[in-house]
Amino acid sequence: MKLTAREATFDFTGRDTVVLFLAEDFAHKKGAAVPDKISHITKKVNLEFFKGKSGESLLLPLSDQPSLLLAGLGKAGEISRESLRNAAAGIIGVCRKKKISGLHVLLPEPEGLVEKEVLSALAEGIFLGNYGFDRYKTRADEIDPRLKTAVFYVTDAVGSAGILRETAIVCSNTLLCRDLINETSERANPSSIAAEAKKLAKMKGVSCTIFGRRELEKLGMGLLLAVGRAGHHPPQMAILRYTGNPRSKKSLAIVGKGITFDSGGLNLKPSGHIEDMRSDMAGAAACIYTIKAAAELGLRKNLYAVLPLCENMVAGNSYRPGDVYRAFNGTTVEIGNTDAEGRLILADALAYTEKKLKPDFIIDIATLTGACLVCFGEIIAGLLSPSDELAEAVRSAGEATGERVWRLPLYKDYAEDLKSDIADMSNVSSTRNAGTIIAATFLKAFVESTPWAHIDIAGTSWGSKERGYRPKNATGYGVRLFIETIKTLTI
Ligand code: BES
Ligand code: MG
Ligand code: ZN
Repeated sequence: MKLTAREATFDFTGRDTVVLFLAEDFAHKKGAAVPDKISHITKKVNLEFFKGKSGESLLLPLSDQPSLLLAGLGKAGEISRESLRNAAAGIIGVCRKKKISGLHVLLPEPEGLVEKEVLSALAEGIFLGNYGFDRYKTRADEIDPRLKTAVFYVTDAVGSAGILRETAIVCSNTLLCRDLINETSERANPSSIAAEAKKLAKMKGVSCTIFGRRELEKLGMGLLLAVGRAGHHPPQMAILRYTGNPRSKKSLAIVGKGITFDSGGLNLKPSGHIEDMRSDMAGAAACIYTIKAAAELGLRKNLYAVLPLCENMVAGNSYRPGDVYRAFNGTTVEIGNTDAEGRLILADALAYTEKKLKPDFIIDIATLTGACLVCFGEIIAGLLSPSDELAEAVRSAGEATGERVWRLPLYKDYAEDLKSDIADMSNVSSTRNAGTIIAATFLKAFVESTPWAHIDIAGTSWGSKERGYRPKNATGYGVRLFIETIKTLTI
């Protein structure tokens, strides 16, 4: 979709659709929210019947005048960047149904927000709401058209152009991230995802290395190899590097869980829990498109993305409960449950990242525990980190982007529960309690001293229904959070 900014000369024609955002209390203000320049249009309709509830939208087709698309903002005192994103996404449904392909957007002026905040939030909401995964639909009447253009009327067209350019880059990569997660596990498999990462190496400042089974064996990644053993596609590890600040030696490594299908392994998942498990690579997908977005933005930062990729499948050669495998860092791990596979592949990836890439910060992102979904629902992600500084960087980026996180503790006491009779550690606890903290406690054992944070996106990466600008199924959670976090780190 093309986003453009125009200084407030309203030159729309009778065929255009003009979006007017109205807050709930509009009725009491008697037209105060309508810019003078279009009052000749709005005068023709009685706007007061429009309630302005958040998410509410209404198309008023007018002949010989631009049509009006009213969009509700909710209560005037409760407008935030996040509510603006959701309000903007709320108009996409009407656009699709009525086959509207372009919009002219008048910016509301809510208290406490400056024009560029309003602009970027509305542009994000429209861009992110304008999504559907229809590549397997063969009937034309089931494929809704998408918006192609949105023009925003602003007071500073030059400054706004930069904001919209940035918004389009970050949001288009979020949509690509959704596409890769929504794609079938037949097509989005370890080799095809590694190939997708490799494609980015064409971009300025980006390089990519891929390890296949042989290399993983040589490196001693016993956990990733064990989990991926029964997969039809062999396990891989892709490493992307983006050098945007060659003068600095500092860097951040993002590590993403890339289980392209999680059947649970021999501890097979039951019906009701297995159907959407092609999304178990959402962390890896977020990392790939963060690197792509960073390179397109030309961020002056140094990044690595490390993606352990494999399938967790059932076969005669599946890894088994009771087996013991040796991690990259030498730690031996007893398999208590083959469905706790994410922490195993991440353990190898984290230890490799710290030892070989030597970044200054590590953040991993993973659809790691059902317990995180139970705790936070689909609304916010779990954040666990021994570093207050890194945790705060992620937390504030979450508030800014709406991809929110909430921190859980990592007290040493939890490590108790990961003891094994026969190996250094077990991959599961003997109790069912504190699943998200236990998983993070396991990961912590594979990062020695680098400031590290873990983001559990089991809930936020996949929606059981549409929620504002987050669609049903893959949400693309993580790309916007990472880009915002990266901007605040000195790397
Ligand atoms: N991929 C799952 C976690 C998950 C569950 C993600 C639901 C998204 C939605 C992970 O590999 C898993 O199976 N975790 C187990 C761990 C348990 C066996 C200790 C879980 O959470 O049940
Ligand atoms: Mg699992
Ligand atoms: Zn999993």
